[in-house]
Amino acid sequence: MNEDISSSHAGEDERSQELALRPKTLKEFVGQERVSNQLDLLLSAARSRKLPADHVLLSGPPGLGKTTLAMIIASEMDAPIRITSGPAIQHAGDLASILSSLVEGEILFLDEIHRMSRPAEELLYLAMEDFRVDVIVGKGPGATAIPLELPHFTLVGATTRAGLLPSPLRDRFGFTAQLDFYENSELAEIVSRSASLMGISISSDAISEIGSRSRGTPRVANRLLRRVRDYAEVHAGGVISIKEARAALEMYEVDPVGLDRLDQAVLDAVIRRFNGGPVGISTLAMAIGEEAETIESLAEPFLVRMGYLSRTPRGRIATPAGFAHLGVMTPLTPPALFDTPTSDA
Ligand SMILES: Nc1ncnc2c1ncn2[C@@H]1O[C@H](COP(=O)(O)OP(=O)(O)OP(=O)(O)O)[C@@H](O)[C@H]1O
Ligand SMILES: [Mg+2]
Repeated sequence: MNEDISSSHAGEDERSQELALRPKTLKEFVGQERVSNQLDLLLSAARSRKLPADHVLLSGPPGLGKTTLAMIIASEMDAPIRITSGPAIQHAGDLASILSSLVEGEILFLDEIHRMSRPAEELLYLAMEDFRVDVIVGKGPGATAIPLELPHFTLVGATTRAGLLPSPLRDRFGFTAQLDFYENSELAEIVSRSASLMGISISSDAISEIGSRSRGTPRVANRLLRRVRDYAEVHAGGVISIKEARAALEMYEVDPVGLDRLDQAVLDAVIRRFNGGPVGISTLAMAIGEEAETIESLAEPFLVRMGYLSRTPRGRIATPAGFAHLGVMTPLTPPALFDTPTSDA
């Protein structure tokens, strides 16, 4: 299988390289101005009160900077950080033991928080609100709950699917940051910053070209930069001009607007197989052999943001812009008006 270089998912090898490029402070964090200002205020206020910051929920599609922001929160608060994830917490007891071993002011980063088990979630409610967990001792009618005081900590939750969080959990966060896809100019700034950290010599038009093909995602921007660098090292003594950038991106089949293979497969299926839709998410998932969850968290947000796809109660519909992008004629009657409804939208 080809390496999907514009996919927003990170592989193992890539994670170590990402580490080096990760901004360490809010000042270095490019874009997301509103979120960044709000977070700055939240952290400054907490620092001046000498108290841990309120719990923070970071939501948004993969690769937009959720983990980066969690690390930044810890470093701005000069606090230690403990990292875990929803799927790693199978039992409420796992969470209780993590919580009781935290130190005062510690940041608990809970990645993929929407994938935590229900009992663990319920334990978390009490911990977030009252800094307390109830430890159950014994079994059956004789069981008793012994309250255990916890140190004051800051929970930083991250999720690609905020909609899946139960509202009692969502409501317990003092601040929710919804990260959005980046503007091309911001992506260019990220490419430029990474190039200088990596000691790469690159022209400004090549920087813009990479930025605008990064599907709004910093992780993709950094990855495309590395692939273009490979190309330039082999073909141009390591110096990247617009010529090398274009040739490399073409060679790696990056769509002119940055759609990756999954994005293209989804759009192509809606248009060519389902005549523009509406098509339900599970039918669509089956047609392209992917999980519905993968399509919903990875491909859809960007296709919707590009205006190629729209989500309706009856299913997914390709827009005229989506048809135009694939070079397919738009049907004369808008698809939404002559469909047979799909049940699993
Ligand atoms: N605002 C930014 N400025 C500069 N670089 C950024 C920014 N946001 C993200 N990056 C870069 O993109 C990479 C991916 O970001 P990060 O790992 O924080 O994404 P994520 O939202 O946690 O993704 P996932 O949902 O897959 O866990 C980081 O290593 C960092 O180098
Ligand atoms: Mg992450």
